[in-house]
Amino acid sequence: MKVPRYGKANLSNMLFTAFWWISHKISPSLSKKLIVYGIRDGAFADRRIFNKVLGIDVMGYHFKNPIGVAAGLDKRGNVIDGMIALGYGFGEFGSYTLEKEMPFKKVMYLRQDKAILMQSLGYRNPGVQAIIPSLISRRHLPNFVGVNITTSTPTESENIKQGQHMTYEHEFALMASKVAPYCDYLVLNFAHPEVELSRLMTDRATVVPIVRSVRTAISQAAPIRPPKIVIKLPLDLTPHEVPLVCNALMEAQVDAVIVGGVQSLSKGNGNTLKDKKYHHIGMLAGKPIKDLSTALVANIYQHTQGKLPIIACGGVFNGKDAYEKIAAGASLIQIYSAILFQGPNVVNKINRELTKILLDKGFQKLEDAVGCEMR
Ligand SMILES: Cc1cc2nc3c(=O)[nH]c(=O)nc-3n(C[C@H](O)[C@H](O)[C@H](O)COP(=O)(O)O)c2cc1C
Repeated sequence: MKVPRYGKANLSNMLFTAFWWISHKISPSLSKKLIVYGIRDGAFADRRIFNKVLGIDVMGYHFKNPIGVAAGLDKRGNVIDGMIALGYGFGEFGSYTLEKEMPFKKVMYLRQDKAILMQSLGYRNPGVQAIIPSLISRRHLPNFVGVNITTSTPTESENIKQGQHMTYEHEFALMASKVAPYCDYLVLNFAHPEVELSRLMTDRATVVPIVRSVRTAISQAAPIRPPKIVIKLPLDLTPHEVPLVCNALMEAQVDAVIVGGVQSLSKGNGNTLKDKKYHHIGMLAGKPIKDLSTALVANIYQHTQGKLPIIACGGVFNGKDAYEKIAAGASLIQIYSAILFQGPNVVNKINRELTKILLDKGFQKLEDAVGCEMR
């Protein structure tokens, strides 16, 4: 696998960045395509930030900085390593299901709200088997990467499984055994609001056996260096559900938790959006979910007494947003919407601002800031 080499700003990458900037004002979906092509071909200028204060040890690994690429951007396995070369601390491929899924999908970019609204019955993806050649070809790279796997959407799975009953344990274990040798962490994605699993997250009798069967599968498939097990949570957990979820996560001994996915919108809670053009039903990402996600980070940090590493995701656009998540208990952060609205170099802006905030507040290392508002 060829990873792009980025250079200092020159005429061609300045022109490409300008072209991307104009395109993102006209069509965010074109902007996403240009980001993918631009990353693949090294067309963005290198503005990497290296500051020792941003380094952090999580799950037994050292991260040069805490900002990662969230799932959803790279389903083909050809973007994440370029993003890491540009300055991201880590990245995640996926989501993948056992078989290919191509559900109906409509994505709306709400510019005024800095939000993305997605109407979809599942995650479009080529199926977990199809990604393996790409994962093998990048395996020599030192980058820290995760693979995100999730259960088939009910409508699709009925066709795929042709009436055969497959338990969640079996389905996740089968996928995990395929990708375990090629990733540093494996995400069991419980966050999709359309899937029953997100509602079963409070039930330890569901969660614990799934994690156990995945652990057995990966210890057989990758015995020397099994990937860490991470669970991605839905954002819509109620205060009553949080302690139940935390108990299940602790009992299952997962290595970290991603908090969280998108917010499920019905007509009611969509009315707070400035953009009134759309019927506000679907799954929301971006700025409007920032506070919901930060509150859930804080809640989970408290209930797990800071013992479970938290990867925060939801509405981070600048260093202040990132600091809020860290102060609430997150050790790492993932971004998605900010990349589409501000371009892939947003990571370096966030890291520059975060460095300043940490140093101004007197922190010598990022680790000391984790959960500082909760103590
Ligand atoms: C268009 C789109 C596609 C996404 N696809 C996935 C996916 O395949 N798997 C997943 O776990 N999350 C997916 N997400 C959720 C993101 O990973 C992230 O959790 C969410 O966008 C919140 O972060 P943000 O506010 O920085 O965008 C997707 C989000 C969007 C907007």
